Amino acid sequence: SVEERVNDLLSKMTMREKVMQLTQSTAGKNNNVNNIGERVKKMDPMIGSLIYFDMDPKVRNAIQRKAVEESRLGIPIIFGQDVIHGYRSIYPIPLAQASSFNPGLSEKASAMAAREAYLSGVNWTFSPMIDVSRDPRWGRVAECYGEDPYVIGIFAEGAVKGYQGDDLSAPNTIAACLKHFIGYGVSEGGRDYHYTDISKQALWETYLPPYEAGVKAGVATLMSSFNDISGVPATANSYILRDILKEKWGHDGFVVSDWKAVAQLKNQGVAKDDKEAGLKAFMAGVEMCMVDGIYDEHLEDLVNEGKVPADILDDAVKRVLRIKFRLGLFDNPYCPELPEKKRYLTKEDKALCEEMAAESMVLLKNKDNTLPLKKGVTVALIGPMANEQEHLLGSWHDLGKAKDVTSIYTAFKKKHRGKVKYAKGCDFKGNDRSGFADAIATAKASDAVVVCVGEMNDMNGENASRSTIKLSGIQEDLVLEMIKTGKPVVVVLATGRPIELQRIEPKANAIMQMWQPGIRGAEALVDLLSGKKNPSGKLAMTFPRTTGQIPVYYNMRQAARLSWGGQYQDISTKPMYWFGHGLSYTNFEYGTPVADKLKFKRNDVITVTVDVKNAGNMAGKETVIWYVTDPACSISRPMKEVKFFEKKMLPSGGTERYSFVINPWRDLSYVNDTGKRFLEAGEYIITVGGKEVKLELLD
Ligand code: IFM
Repeated sequence: SVEERVNDLLSKMTMREKVMQLTQSTAGKNNNVNNIGERVKKMDPMIGSLIYFDMDPKVRNAIQRKAVEESRLGIPIIFGQDVIHGYRSIYPIPLAQASSFNPGLSEKASAMAAREAYLSGVNWTFSPMIDVSRDPRWGRVAECYGEDPYVIGIFAEGAVKGYQGDDLSAPNTIAACLKHFIGYGVSEGGRDYHYTDISKQALWETYLPPYEAGVKAGVATLMSSFNDISGVPATANSYILRDILKEKWGHDGFVVSDWKAVAQLKNQGVAKDDKEAGLKAFMAGVEMCMVDGIYDEHLEDLVNEGKVPADILDDAVKRVLRIKFRLGLFDNPYCPELPEKKRYLTKEDKALCEEMAAESMVLLKNKDNTLPLKKGVTVALIGPMANEQEHLLGSWHDLGKAKDVTSIYTAFKKKHRGKVKYAKGCDFKGNDRSGFADAIATAKASDAVVVCVGEMNDMNGENASRSTIKLSGIQEDLVLEMIKTGKPVVVVLATGRPIELQRIEPKANAIMQMWQPGIRGAEALVDLLSGKKNPSGKLAMTFPRTTGQIPVYYNMRQAARLSWGGQYQDISTKPMYWFGHGLSYTNFEYGTPVADKLKFKRNDVITVTVDVKNAGNMAGKETVIWYVTDPACSISRPMKEVKFFEKKMLPSGGTERYSFVINPWRDLSYVNDTGKRFLEAGEYIITVGGKEVKLELLD
């Protein structure tokens, strides 16, 4: 068994060999088969893990050969890489994927990414990122599945299954890594790497549940986060890493630190030097040290000095070896060396990227049925995103290439049933209005304007916080100039975060949130704008009206005064678009929800159903989102919480019955600030499509 093999190997290892298994370095870039590069040549063959930036499996195998053939015990390296939303076939960013409300599709996409990565020599992805994200100033909201813990948990489960499959040792699977454990998205002011203050209640109720879902799905590894959680940085936090993760949840894989995060414990003011930082991180439960070399340098001394007990060192090594055995690395350390064509960007890969993109785009506004565009209309395609390839990829596209991306202009020329004229208008940055005149003339000479604006890849993602979530440069002005032409204006937003739309929204005829959609997003967009496909995405993250409204998310708690007070004086208190908002070209009519019992006992199962009719004349997919409200409880609860969602295709005129099967302990209970679960007697309100049914739990 794996455990016997782990124990047998461990019994043969020297202290140095053990410490090296806990060390991760990087292979650097530009290695090649004949010359694996100075960095790798100098590398200790006993190294446990490498972050691998190349794509060539032959290079990767050459590096692996060094470990297997030149180290005493021949322990293979585990190669890690940030495969976030695709390896080479790049599909929409996670925030977009969540807006599809189709976790099955997201799982398929993760499996595709795993296959491409595996065939290029990667064994382990630092994904999925499941930090509950409620502050769109924080650049990394692009990488997460939105603001709701339940939705994130479902997508986390899908991603873990997609990457890992049922058997980690099978071909085309790789180990997943839940990150960043925990609270990284709560950093003050949305400033990356900053302090986070998280109450224990919020930790248990909001931030831990997606991780628990990912751990239950069998994730192999987790990455501890950079942030400081109320005075104890995550990298040195034994409450989250040992008490909760390893003991309460029984996770038997390993935790890797984030990049140089162990050394950064000094900056965070909890360690006087590297050695103390290493001691704190290791004792807290970080088994592998990413890149800063601190375990390599100090762990042996710490054991010899009695500061790190030998059994804790052994437990850490076992965790790493366990994952290597489960991956089958000892039996088959080398990856196949197939030609590029067989590794990625196959026809099926591209089709899946397109399908994911089409399901994730969100039609935010469609006044007077501006969309779909009529056949034969001349379209003015305007804006800095209109002829872009690079910036449709997203910030963590890593090995994705701009040349693989179809631009919106190219897709329009290929697919639009009418003429297309293009003018850029302005850049993403700066104040140069010299392109406005051409854009205005182009718009005036057309029947409809599609203005494509958004964010460059480096405007979101890691270390890309923004003090305002407005469009950069003069893009808003360009949109307003288009509106002034009097032509119907469709705004296409290709962004990695919710955008402030206060100036644009009231005047635009239609708005399509395209997100950063990957290589085939443009094709999907044109199909949606032309009505060949029906939009079905819904927002996984609320769009604030202004930056000053942040934080604003759907599952807030109720204010003390209900009908008056507590409002902003200058703007509505409501955001521009709530979580869950998204239009279709057809019209879904919700019936009255019906429960099979209105009064129930703790161990009963209650089924609530609702009939939804497609009353329009186009087939379409509808996601039904079920919310639960507990109006009076021992602790205050969010105004409503998603507990289930389901997406189905409805033909025109068709009716579908959607069901929510309620398990009271799972769906109606709450946790306190120690993680203890309670289920209280009294009223619960189930809301679906704006209609509610009241249930009562009897004492
Ligand atoms: O996986 C990432 C993490 O999300 C941010 N810091 C670097 C890691 C490895 O590239």
